[in-house]
Amino acid sequence: MQIQAGIITVSDRASRGLYDDLGGPALKKAATGYGWKIVSEALVADEKSQIQRAIREQINQGCQLVLTTGGTGVALRDVTPEAVREIAVRELPGFGEVMRMESMKITPNAILSRNLAVVVDKALVICLPGKPSGAVECLSFVIGAIPHCVEVLQEVPTSC
Ligand code: MTE
Repeated sequence: MQIQAGIITVSDRASRGLYDDLGGPALKKAATGYGWKIVSEALVADEKSQIQRAIREQINQGCQLVLTTGGTGVALRDVTPEAVREIAVRELPGFGEVMRMESMKITPNAILSRNLAVVVDKALVICLPGKPSGAVECLSFVIGAIPHCVEVLQEVPTSC
């Protein structure tokens, strides 16, 4: 089954045109390389409602996987974790744990990352750092678990 993926760049400045969205294209290149079909791309401000709407829209477009980049840091404007937790049915803590542990080998700032993965409806949503290289690196650290996770989430619950 080819994974249908959505990409959301969360950035006040990029969404206001103050600088180019480099994270979205970097993730699109990486995701295509993993063999996924990019169904939708979005660019939103660091606003919970915009992040939540973009995730829901991409799920409604058939995305089983949504990748966000940005808004996972320590700044007050970084609200991506809070936004996704509000609409998640559960959090998958192993993704954030591994992304931070592996990123520690690259930058001591990895501890500042509130990266995480959650389930929204039947989709896996992975929230990555805003720095393009950070987003692509963190995705690569958890890539091994994505196909099985997506497959399990798509399964129609069998009657017990
Ligand atoms: N992880 C990796 N692999 N590479 C990075 O460059 N940046 C760190 C951290 N994790 C980074 C990383 C920094 S500087 C911050 S502030 C946090 O991710 C959150 O980044 P964000 O605010 O761009 O979401």
